[in-house]
Amino acid sequence: MNPKQTILEILNQSDRVVSGEVLSARLGISRVSIWKHIKGLVQSGVPVVSSPKGYRLTHDPDHLQPWAFGDRQERIHYFEDTASTMDAAALLARDGCPEYTVVLAQRQTRGRGRMQRSWTSDEGGLYFTVVVRPDSPLMHAGLVNLAAAIDMAGLLRSRYRIDAGLKWPNDILVDEKKICGILSQMEAEGDQVAHVNIGLGLNVNNRPEIDQPGAVSIQSLLGHPVPRREILTGFLEAFEARMHDFHAPLVVDQWRADNVTLGKPVRVSTVKETVDGTAVDVDANGGLVLALSDGSHRTVVHGDCFHQ
Ligand code: BTN
Repeated sequence: MNPKQTILEILNQSDRVVSGEVLSARLGISRVSIWKHIKGLVQSGVPVVSSPKGYRLTHDPDHLQPWAFGDRQERIHYFEDTASTMDAAALLARDGCPEYTVVLAQRQTRGRGRMQRSWTSDEGGLYFTVVVRPDSPLMHAGLVNLAAAIDMAGLLRSRYRIDAGLKWPNDILVDEKKICGILSQMEAEGDQVAHVNIGLGLNVNNRPEIDQPGAVSIQSLLGHPVPRREILTGFLEAFEARMHDFHAPLVVDQWRADNVTLGKPVRVSTVKETVDGTAVDVDANGGLVLALSDGSHRTVVHGDCFHQ
């Protein structure tokens, strides 16, 4: 971390004024140097207020400005409003942006869901797309979605004690209500994956249940708001670590362990057909294996799954 990032981190963790003396001792540089770094931060738009007692950040604790993401900030593309983070990420990915570039928006005017649905993107939710360049065979590209769902659900369980389960293929449910949806878009050159863009819409401090009875948010479950920045950082840490050391069989095993679909009667709809059966397993590529009423098995690789 450079001195500016360290100063930001210290100010960010403090809810009161931090004196120049404390900052200078923590960084091991003079108070004049601290003052120069603070001036640089203010010039780049960081809201630091100076007073005779020291320095303080005057930000909304739930803001998503790139400067608060430390070492990652160069790879965070932030929008107050955008049509869809998927569109901006597609352009960046085709332009050769670094892996794990993130497009993040406060609001989306044309947020997209799976199967050509729209995704309501009110203020307070977390809406982002991450660019992944997996070094794995094309057939494993679908597992990247499952991996994202596993890591987000794991974070919700470990950090917020939310009982999050995975619905095939990659919805995250709490008590059968949707808290997170995931959309992915892949581009390939021949049999080589160029990039997979994974878009997550997580209900955090918004109230989706007002007009979507099948949805729920973290704030409505916990009874208080939570900082979205903390969720995004936690997710990216877990997801990047997994992708650096990607084991397809492990993803499938973890999905099996965390899912709420297997064992249930389900209906899977694709654009072409509807299949009813009991969900019995996922295969090595993430396809859902159904036991049909005639005793045969059928694997579906995409579609909308409804728990019956
Ligand atoms: C679904 O459950 O149908 C998937 C929803 C995915 C929504 C996210 S929000 C961020 C990204 N941008 C979009 O337009 N969609 C995804």
